[in-house]
Amino acid sequence: MGSHALDSPAAASRKKVRRSARLTHSSNLRSLSAPRTFALLLLVTCADPVHSDAVDALGEERRGVRPGPTHRPGQPCLVCHGGQGPGSPDFSVAGTVYAARGVLEPLAGTTVVIEDANHDVRRATSNEVGNFYIAAQTWSPVFPLTTKLDDPRADVDGEKPMLTPLPRTGDCASCHYGADNEPTHMPPVFLRSKAL
Ligand code: HEC
Ligand code: HEC
Repeated sequence: MGSHALDSPAAASRKKVRRSARLTHSSNLRSLSAPRTFALLLLVTCADPVHSDAVDALGEERRGVRPGPTHRPGQPCLVCHGGQGPGSPDFSVAGTVYAARGVLEPLAGTTVVIEDANHDVRRATSNEVGNFYIAAQTWSPVFPLTTKLDDPRADVDGEKPMLTPLPRTGDCASCHYGADNEPTHMPPVFLRSKAL
């Protein structure tokens, strides 16, 4: 494998930008419109400020928890495992499941069912902190997706469906954000209306 194979797409596009920036300097700068020059400078100086701010906003690892299957429960995993790093591997679908509405008690051993637009169905099982994930390398689903929790402990019919489809992300906590008891506009994903 040549060293260029290690470049992420983001790094590769940064290189392209640097190359085109050099070209710009050697040609006549005045021929570029001001907004375009500004946009170029922005790209050259900071790779992706929005992404690094989003990563920073999620804070440090909890003391005593190593980066791995049980870290950062409730957080939007794909901010870091969505292709721009710093997490690896990339996930196509990931999240955290809790036992009941309003109770941040992790739900272990529940089955999260995800079906893509081609009716390709995958299942993932939540671990001891409620986290589940599907590596992008093993599945890159076609959107929109539908999802449900398949679990005999559910209130009705052994399942808890999300009624509307997911239009463009499998990052559950991008909407169901309830990490570390933070106030939230949507409750975290939960199975039951009342605690077990
Ligand atoms: C703020 C960034 C960030 C978030 C959010 C995040 N992770 Fe990570 N994750 C990392 C980093 C960094 C690593 C270590 C990567 C490495 O060692 O190369 C990692 C490693 C992992 C690994 C270990 C992979 C391996 O091969 O050992 C798993 C599994 C994982 N994370 C799952 C999750 C899940 C599930 C979530 C959401 C509940 C999540 N992560 C949220 C940054 C993050
Ligand atoms: C784009 C935002 C968004 C994403 C991403 C998302 N959800 Fe949802 N989810 C919602 C909304 C809005 C509702 C309430 C309406 C509904 O059920 O469709 C909901 C409801 C649910 C419910 C039912 C809750 C109840 O009160 O009955 C479950 C279960 C659920 N989601 C699971 C998931 C899982 C698992 C994922 C990730 C694979 C996920 N959601 C990703 C927005 C989202």
